Amino acid sequence: MSFTVAIDGPAAAGKGTISKAVAAHFGFAHLDTGLLYRAVGAKVLAGGDPVSVARALDPSDLENDALRTPAVAQAASEVAAIGDVRAALVDFQRSFARKGDGAVLDGRDIGTVICPDAEVKIFVTASAECRAERRFAELSGKGMEVTLEQVIADVKARDHRDQNRAEAPLVPAQDAVMLDTSDLDIAQAVARAVEIIAAKRR
Ligand code: CDP
Repeated sequence: MSFTVAIDGPAAAGKGTISKAVAAHFGFAHLDTGLLYRAVGAKVLAGGDPVSVARALDPSDLENDALRTPAVAQAASEVAAIGDVRAALVDFQRSFARKGDGAVLDGRDIGTVICPDAEVKIFVTASAECRAERRFAELSGKGMEVTLEQVIADVKARDHRDQNRAEAPLVPAQDAVMLDTSDLDIAQAVARAVEIIAAKRR
């Protein structure tokens, strides 16, 4: 029996960290779906056509540290507004969700569009200031030259675009459990997500 955990939320809310940790805790596979859009965005920055690139995407394209830059994040959110790009990525995500004993997928539309029947849906949020500070610390920690102002502007621009697009906008599923991580450290946020999932496993 497969078991799908959908984790959605705005930029830098902590979805990735929480998803990785809960996947390890329950022995589930994990797919960071943002990487699909980042991989398409990176290829478009290199001159590709968004829809052709999305249709030809290969899982090996996701293993690339260069996908974490703010420029690629912006390009990702631009290509993510194109309906044919999103459509090209649906089958890969849905089959991942039903692989093995369980899978955790994190993104923007997992609980609403990709896996509306997911056994667990969590919508992770945090204040815009918290999210920008965390992303700033992460990018500076990797040696990237960014300012806090740039990171705030990036996070706000992407949230605005992601929430207002016509296709699969960023919105909590009606049956999602809300998890605000503004005042939680990583261990507390992960513990809360584990609790939410464990309650549905019983
Ligand atoms: O890590 P962060 O939250 O900053 O971003 P991400 O999850 O890697 O996603 C990058 C961009 O891809 C987002 O701003 C969205 O525009 C898009 N995306 C999406 O539209 N749908 C998803 N399921 C995942 C990401």
